[in-house]
Amino acid sequence: MPEFLHLDLPDEAATAALAARVAARARPGDAVLLEGPLGAGKSSFSRAFLRAASGDPALEVPSPTFTLVQEYALPGATAFHFDLWRLDGPRGLVELGWEEAREGIVLVEWPDRLGALRPAEALHLVLAPGASEGARLATLRGWPDRLAGLAA
Ligand SMILES: Nc1ncnc2c1ncn2[C@@H]1O[C@H](COP(=O)(O)OP(=O)(O)O)[C@@H](O)[C@H]1O
Ligand SMILES: [Mg+2]
Repeated sequence: MPEFLHLDLPDEAATAALAARVAARARPGDAVLLEGPLGAGKSSFSRAFLRAASGDPALEVPSPTFTLVQEYALPGATAFHFDLWRLDGPRGLVELGWEEAREGIVLVEWPDRLGALRPAEALHLVLAPGASEGARLATLRGWPDRLAGLAA
Protein backbone atom coordinates (compact mmCIF):
# COMPACT_ATOMS: atom_id res chain seq x y z
CA MET A 1 0.00 0.00 0.00
CA PRO A 2 1.36 3.48 -0.85
CA GLU A 3 2.77 5.31 2.16
CA PHE A 4 1.78 8.79 0.97
CA LEU A 5 -1.39 10.26 -0.40
CA HIS A 6 -1.04 13.37 -2.58
CA LEU A 7 -4.19 15.39 -3.19
CA ASP A 8 -4.92 18.55 -5.16
CA LEU A 9 -7.19 20.87 -3.21
CA PRO A 10 -8.37 23.36 -5.85
CA ASP A 11 -10.28 25.54 -3.39
CA GLU A 12 -11.14 25.89 0.28
CA ALA A 13 -14.23 23.69 -0.14
CA ALA A 14 -11.93 20.84 -1.19
CA THR A 15 -9.87 21.35 1.97
CA ALA A 16 -13.08 21.27 4.02
CA ALA A 17 -14.20 18.07 2.28
CA LEU A 18 -10.86 16.42 3.09
CA ALA A 19 -11.23 17.57 6.71
CA ALA A 20 -14.69 15.98 6.84
CA ARG A 21 -13.29 12.68 5.53
CA VAL A 22 -10.58 12.76 8.21
CA ALA A 23 -13.16 13.66 10.88
CA ALA A 24 -15.38 10.74 9.88
CA ARG A 25 -12.48 8.34 10.52
CA ALA A 26 -10.94 9.91 13.63
CA ARG A 27 -11.33 8.28 17.03
CA PRO A 28 -10.16 8.92 20.59
CA GLY A 29 -6.38 8.64 20.92
CA ASP A 30 -5.76 9.94 17.39
CA ALA A 31 -3.36 12.76 16.57
CA VAL A 32 -3.62 14.85 13.39
CA LEU A 33 -0.39 16.84 12.85
CA LEU A 34 -0.80 19.84 10.53
CA GLU A 35 2.24 21.26 8.78
CA GLY A 36 2.77 24.01 6.24
CA PRO A 37 3.66 27.70 6.24
CA LEU A 38 1.57 30.52 7.68
CA GLY A 39 -1.62 30.85 5.65
CA ALA A 40 -1.39 27.32 4.23
CA GLY A 41 -4.79 26.39 5.67
CA LYS A 42 -4.01 24.50 8.89
CA SER A 43 -6.61 26.47 10.87
CA SER A 44 -9.07 26.33 8.00
CA PHE A 45 -8.68 22.52 7.92
CA SER A 46 -9.12 22.34 11.70
CA ARG A 47 -12.28 24.47 11.62
CA ALA A 48 -13.81 22.25 8.93
CA PHE A 49 -12.79 19.12 10.85
CA LEU A 50 -14.42 20.35 14.06
CA ARG A 51 -17.58 21.52 12.29
CA ALA A 52 -17.95 18.16 10.54
CA ALA A 53 -17.19 16.14 13.68
CA SER A 54 -19.61 18.18 15.79
CA GLY A 55 -22.34 18.10 13.17
CA ASP A 56 -22.65 21.88 13.61
CA PRO A 57 -21.69 23.76 10.43
CA ALA A 58 -21.80 27.05 12.36
CA LEU A 59 -19.60 25.88 15.27
CA GLU A 60 -17.39 28.72 16.52
CA VAL A 61 -13.75 27.70 16.13
CA PRO A 62 -11.58 30.52 17.45
CA SER A 63 -7.90 30.40 16.60
CA PRO A 64 -5.81 29.02 19.49
CA THR A 65 -3.00 31.42 18.55
CA PHE A 66 -2.97 32.98 22.03
CA THR A 67 -4.66 30.34 24.22
CA LEU A 68 -2.53 27.65 22.45
CA VAL A 69 -5.37 25.13 22.88
CA GLN A 70 -9.15 25.05 22.48
CA GLU A 71 -11.29 22.13 23.64
CA TYR A 72 -14.39 20.75 21.88
CA ALA A 73 -16.88 18.19 23.20
CA LEU A 74 -17.79 16.13 20.15
CA PRO A 75 -20.41 13.36 20.06
CA GLY A 76 -17.87 10.50 20.18
CA ALA A 77 -14.80 12.16 21.67
CA THR A 78 -13.27 15.29 23.09
CA ALA A 79 -11.09 17.14 20.60
CA PHE A 80 -8.25 19.54 21.36
CA HIS A 81 -7.07 22.05 18.75
CA PHE A 82 -3.52 23.19 19.46
CA ASP A 83 -1.54 25.99 17.82
CA LEU A 84 1.97 25.60 19.20
CA TRP A 85 3.62 28.51 17.34
CA ARG A 86 4.07 30.41 20.62
CA LEU A 87 4.84 27.37 22.79
CA ASP A 88 7.72 27.77 25.24
CA GLY A 89 9.23 24.30 25.19
CA PRO A 90 7.85 20.84 26.05
CA ARG A 91 7.22 21.70 29.72
CA GLY A 92 4.67 24.28 28.58
CA LEU A 93 2.94 21.56 26.59
CA VAL A 94 2.47 19.38 29.68
CA GLU A 95 1.06 22.42 31.51
CA LEU A 96 -1.44 22.85 28.66
CA GLY A 97 -2.81 19.37 29.43
CA TRP A 98 -1.14 17.44 26.62
CA GLU A 99 -1.31 14.06 28.38
CA GLU A 100 -5.06 14.36 29.04
CA ALA A 101 -5.67 15.67 25.55
CA ARG A 102 -4.04 12.57 24.05
CA GLU A 103 -6.93 10.50 25.39
CA GLY A 104 -9.14 12.40 22.98
CA ILE A 105 -8.43 13.63 19.46
CA VAL A 106 -5.65 16.21 19.04
CA LEU A 107 -5.31 18.53 16.04
CA VAL A 108 -1.90 20.19 16.15
CA GLU A 109 -0.63 23.18 14.19
CA TRP A 110 3.20 23.60 14.30
CA PRO A 111 3.80 20.01 15.52
CA ASP A 112 7.60 20.50 15.26
CA ARG A 113 7.22 22.17 18.69
CA LEU A 114 6.19 18.81 20.21
CA GLY A 115 9.78 17.58 20.39
CA ALA A 116 9.97 14.24 22.21
CA LEU A 117 6.22 14.37 22.88
CA ARG A 118 5.45 13.99 19.18
CA PRO A 119 3.11 10.98 18.86
CA ALA A 120 4.75 7.98 17.19
CA GLU A 121 1.56 7.20 15.34
CA ALA A 122 -0.32 10.07 13.78
CA LEU A 123 -1.91 11.31 10.60
CA HIS A 124 0.50 13.86 9.10
CA LEU A 125 -0.95 16.44 6.76
CA VAL A 126 1.35 18.85 4.95
CA LEU A 127 -0.33 21.74 3.11
CA ALA A 128 1.61 23.60 0.44
CA PRO A 129 0.66 26.43 -1.92
CA GLY A 130 -0.85 25.25 -5.20
CA ALA A 131 -0.84 26.63 -8.72
CA SER A 132 -3.44 29.34 -8.04
CA GLU A 133 -4.23 31.53 -5.06
CA GLY A 134 -7.01 29.32 -3.68
CA ALA A 135 -5.31 26.02 -4.44
CA ARG A 136 -3.31 23.84 -2.08
CA LEU A 137 -1.38 20.59 -2.39
CA ALA A 138 -1.93 18.12 0.43
CA THR A 139 0.42 15.31 1.35
CA LEU A 140 -0.87 12.81 3.88
CA ARG A 141 1.10 10.12 5.69
CA GLY A 142 0.24 7.73 8.53
CA TRP A 143 -2.99 5.94 9.41
CA PRO A 144 -2.00 2.90 7.29
CA ASP A 145 -5.40 1.30 7.88
CA ARG A 146 -7.32 4.46 6.93
CA LEU A 147 -5.13 6.43 4.51
CA ALA A 148 -6.61 5.07 1.29
CA GLY A 149 -10.11 6.09 2.40
CA LEU A 150 -9.02 9.72 2.57
CA ALA A 151 -8.67 10.07 -1.20
CA ALA A 152 -11.78 11.85 -2.51
N1 LIG B 1 -7.67 25.50 -0.65
C1 LIG B 1 -7.59 26.19 0.51
N2 LIG B 1 -7.48 25.52 1.68
C2 LIG B 1 -7.39 26.20 2.84
N3 LIG B 1 -7.38 27.54 2.96
C3 LIG B 1 -7.48 28.25 1.83
C4 LIG B 1 -7.59 27.62 0.56
N4 LIG B 1 -7.66 28.60 -0.38
C5 LIG B 1 -7.61 29.76 0.25
N5 LIG B 1 -7.50 29.59 1.58
C6 LIG B 1 -7.39 30.70 2.54
O1 LIG B 1 -6.07 30.64 3.09
C7 LIG B 1 -6.11 31.07 4.44
C8 LIG B 1 -5.60 29.97 5.34
O2 LIG B 1 -5.46 30.52 6.61
P1 LIG B 1 -5.27 29.61 7.88
O3 LIG B 1 -6.15 28.42 7.82
O4 LIG B 1 -5.39 30.51 9.08
O5 LIG B 1 -3.73 29.16 7.69
P2 LIG B 1 -2.70 28.58 8.75
O6 LIG B 1 -3.48 28.10 9.95
O7 LIG B 1 -2.03 27.45 8.01
O8 LIG B 1 -1.74 29.67 9.05
C9 LIG B 1 -7.55 31.44 4.77
O9 LIG B 1 -7.71 32.83 4.58
C10 LIG B 1 -8.33 30.65 3.72
O10 LIG B 1 -9.55 31.28 3.40
MG1 LIG C 1 -3.28 28.55 11.99
